[in-house]
Amino acid sequence: MLSAQEKRVMAPEEWEERWQQDRIGFHHPTVHKMLEAHVDKVVAGRTGVKFFFPLCGKAVGMKWLADSGHSVVGVEFSEKAIRQFFGESGMSYSEEPVPTIPGAKVFRNTEKTISLYRSDIYKFSSSLEGQFGAIWDRGALVAINPKDRENYAALLVSLMAPDCRYLLDTLIYNPELYKGPPFFVPDEQLLSLYGSSCDVKLLEEEEALTERAKSWGLDYLTEKVHLLVLKDKAGLV
Ligand SMILES: C[S@@+](CC[C@H](N)C(=O)[O-])C[C@H]1O[C@@H](n2cnc3c(N)ncnc32)[C@H](O)[C@@H]1O
Repeated sequence: MLSAQEKRVMAPEEWEERWQQDRIGFHHPTVHKMLEAHVDKVVAGRTGVKFFFPLCGKAVGMKWLADSGHSVVGVEFSEKAIRQFFGESGMSYSEEPVPTIPGAKVFRNTEKTISLYRSDIYKFSSSLEGQFGAIWDRGALVAINPKDRENYAALLVSLMAPDCRYLLDTLIYNPELYKGPPFFVPDEQLLSLYGSSCDVKLLEEEEALTERAKSWGLDYLTEKVHLLVLKDKAGLV
């Protein structure tokens, strides 16, 4: 099944084109319900948690978390997405180059609770913002090119602080019917990517065959949300 999509590659320009043409059906105008439903398990009683949003787009959950006293760092290719995020959130922001990543910029709100890097995710590292206490990965592992999954997972693990709680949203469907993105990530692969470093627990799964997914030709679509913690560190309970 995996072979159906393993060679599929989306170039950065194709993502940018989607943003320029407003073809962003992946964007939710409200906080994603899986994040809202499970945020307590991610925060786990802590205050001022530092969240990471890989491939953040203009996810409104970033403002929601900052409004709840947490801080957020996101990474996103598209400058348009980042400017729209701050504009639509009604936030003033500053921008500056990132000296260690040629061509990259970081955009921060005035309170400096949200920092969004306009960069390729693979150029980001813990040398920029340290490690994170929480990660919300939606439209991220399922959006990167399948051939890059090992690099992506290694990067995400390197960004986890010892007490990090990583909430990961995946999609299961028949990859013979649709080429992606979003890409299909079977549970076996999730375990091969993260299982040596993390304990992985399924928190929820739900049928998610929307009209949009039907228009891709899919006959079923299951959305799964998992909680990952570093082995022998924070504990999943
Ligand atoms: C499916 S969208 C999801 C956005 C967001 N996570 C959400 O849930 O709305 C994937 C986003 O990742 C960005 N992207 C894709 N590949 C990237 C990469 N290698 N580095 C940084 N951003 C990337 C795209 O521009 C796009 O905005």
